[in-house]
Amino acid sequence: MQPDQLKAIFRQGWMNSHVVDHRVQRFIKGEFGFEPSRNAWKKVLAEAASGENIHRAVDMGTGPGTIAQFWAEMGMETTGVDFSATMLDAAKTVAAQQKLDISFMEADVEAPPLPTGSFDLVSSRAVLFTLPHPGYALARWAQLLRPGGLMVLIGEISPTDPEKQKRAYRPAEGWQPDAEYREAMKQLPFREHTDQMLRVVMEAVGLKDIRSISMDAVMSSRWEHEKQEPAYGVLQGTPYILVGQRADEKL
Ligand SMILES: C[S@@+](CC[C@H](N)C(=O)[O-])C[C@H]1O[C@@H](n2cnc3c(N)ncnc32)[C@H](O)[C@@H]1O
Repeated sequence: MQPDQLKAIFRQGWMNSHVVDHRVQRFIKGEFGFEPSRNAWKKVLAEAASGENIHRAVDMGTGPGTIAQFWAEMGMETTGVDFSATMLDAAKTVAAQQKLDISFMEADVEAPPLPTGSFDLVSSRAVLFTLPHPGYALARWAQLLRPGGLMVLIGEISPTDPEKQKRAYRPAEGWQPDAEYREAMKQLPFREHTDQMLRVVMEAVGLKDIRSISMDAVMSSRWEHEKQEPAYGVLQGTPYILVGQRADEKL
């Protein structure tokens, strides 16, 4: 399948209203709506974004604006990019409810029409796994940073234990991938990736001083969440945040 065909298939999936509702329920109202977790994420994201003059942020594949909201809450001028208009509608609703001023742009994150060197921070959470060309995307995101700007990549390593896998799998109610979608998923190079693999690509696109943020605070809040809602499955994956800096004038 050609990259454009693949993207059209995935875009249709991410546009589905059940998939959008699922992300809002599971993350905006679920993990990020649980106060101890929200505070823990605030702490780790603030640590990730620490640096000089970090004011303009863009969140790639923002979905319902999950991470964009944190940057806006920290006072950054924030843009969220996504190719699903339905996700962006949900993001606008959530931002309005939280009284946050965020700009949203409907575009392909592998080639976002944004000016080179115009951001202090580029972030993305849980998006690289669904891109046909995550390498092109990361190269472009690095170019969007001004020298000294930060790339913040947030993700979750899937469990390998079959029991945990069963509990971690939460399909969107009312939506099932069809045969074409399942076939398309097989062509995604980062469908299952680890933070170590990402580190290599971050190096390859010219980022320096790559560091991992400790996720202890997030893990403790997940234990607390698990005690209150054992069926939620929040402890199954292993979250990570990697931060790299654009050091050079030219990439
Ligand atoms: C798993 S969701 C993650 C959403 C959000 N970052 C979060 O953490 O909740 C993946 C998001 O990436 C978006 N996406 C996938 N491929 C994309 C592409 N090529 N261009 C723009 N957005 C894309 C989807 O529409 C979806 O909103």
